[in-house]
Amino acid sequence: MPGPDAARAAAILADLGPLLPGLASPALVIDLAAVDHNIAAVLRRCRGDQPDDLGRGADRWRPHVKTLKSAALVRRLWAAGVTRCKCATLDELQLLLEAAAEDAREDSLDVLLAYPLHEAAFHAARRLHAAHPAARVQLLADGPEHALAMDRWARGGAGPIDLQLDVDLGMARTGSPPSVWRDAVADLATLSHLRVTGLHGYEGHLAWSQTREAAAAHDALCDLAEAVLCIGKGPLELVTSGTHSFSAALDHPRLNGGPWRHRISPGTVVLSDLRSEPAAERLGLRQAAFVLARVVSRGRDRVTLDAGSKAIAPDRPAPNCHLPAWPGLVPLSPSEEHLPLRREHGALPDHGAAVLLVPDHVCTTVNLYRECLLLRPGEGPTRAAIGASGHRLFFFAQDPPA
Ligand SMILES: Cc1ncc(COP(=O)(O)O)c(C=O)c1O
Repeated sequence: MPGPDAARAAAILADLGPLLPGLASPALVIDLAAVDHNIAAVLRRCRGDQPDDLGRGADRWRPHVKTLKSAALVRRLWAAGVTRCKCATLDELQLLLEAAAEDAREDSLDVLLAYPLHEAAFHAARRLHAAHPAARVQLLADGPEHALAMDRWARGGAGPIDLQLDVDLGMARTGSPPSVWRDAVADLATLSHLRVTGLHGYEGHLAWSQTREAAAAHDALCDLAEAVLCIGKGPLELVTSGTHSFSAALDHPRLNGGPWRHRISPGTVVLSDLRSEPAAERLGLRQAAFVLARVVSRGRDRVTLDAGSKAIAPDRPAPNCHLPAWPGLVPLSPSEEHLPLRREHGALPDHGAAVLLVPDHVCTTVNLYRECLLLRPGEGPTRAAIGASGHRLFFFAQDPPA
């Protein structure tokens, strides 16, 4: 199994030592030095053959903040000069806009709400944006009909809305295939309240090693961009790629060299997890997110931790985590609050012992927590809200009206 070793897990537990008696478990623990290291590693990779061009790294990355969901972590991106991002939910959008307002930096924030909005969600997004007009918020069109519908929904609102076209490059989740968008170019030219600012081609179905498939998908996106250039206002932005295909995208000559601005959008890279091993290995990422759990039951060749599917990687099959300090323990299928581990070799931790887990999928893990503990280099740990975890009930807190 990849990931951090026993010595690092021991060092983190030692940092937490004074807090352990009062710390509930499971607890989400984030190592900020590793976060900063990972951000710097992605920026270096984005700079490629121009390592001295610091602006070029930040200009190439629009990280997806669904991994972070926390203003404290988003601020590490901002501190590194990364002010463009992508989000999926209204909670994430609101968190970004409010954190930027608090820091008086709304004018440098540029968010792509990369999710196809139905009419009520569209109006809610517009209302959130209207409260922070200096920030840039781009929306996403699922297909030509959706773009035309949004144009109607936008009537009477302020200013034109920046719109990216969601291009289905084979993932078959959202968006429309390039041919559908190409056939609709004349219709898109009639939009009066929306302006086409980019193409969003997320090829999340591809694995790190599928570089030929990625090149074909990226070529299809570039072909479409050439057909759409005529209706774009200003240079088109082409947004591709999460943690599993950004490297192929950065190396694609046409994405790199065309009359557009290409940006990648990995988010997992900031915290890293077991699933992102190829990227972690290539970039030298450090694991930044851990779940601290405790032993609540102990048998002859088994211990059970208080970190079930409601604490770590609920969407992943067993083994959905790794214990760096206990390589002889194999995680079995969790239940909601229990994670049984089978002893293959070595000792068993004592009843009540604290252990650190590395999640297989960090994004779905972070989403389970309301707060996390931040480990800060040279300073004591501090707590931070995971402000955009879960889902809101109403679009706005004051709904329904009293
Ligand atoms: C549309 C979109 N963009 C970017 C990403 C980021 O990918 P990753 O979490 O692999 O970095 C995702 C992940 O689900 C996504 O759905």
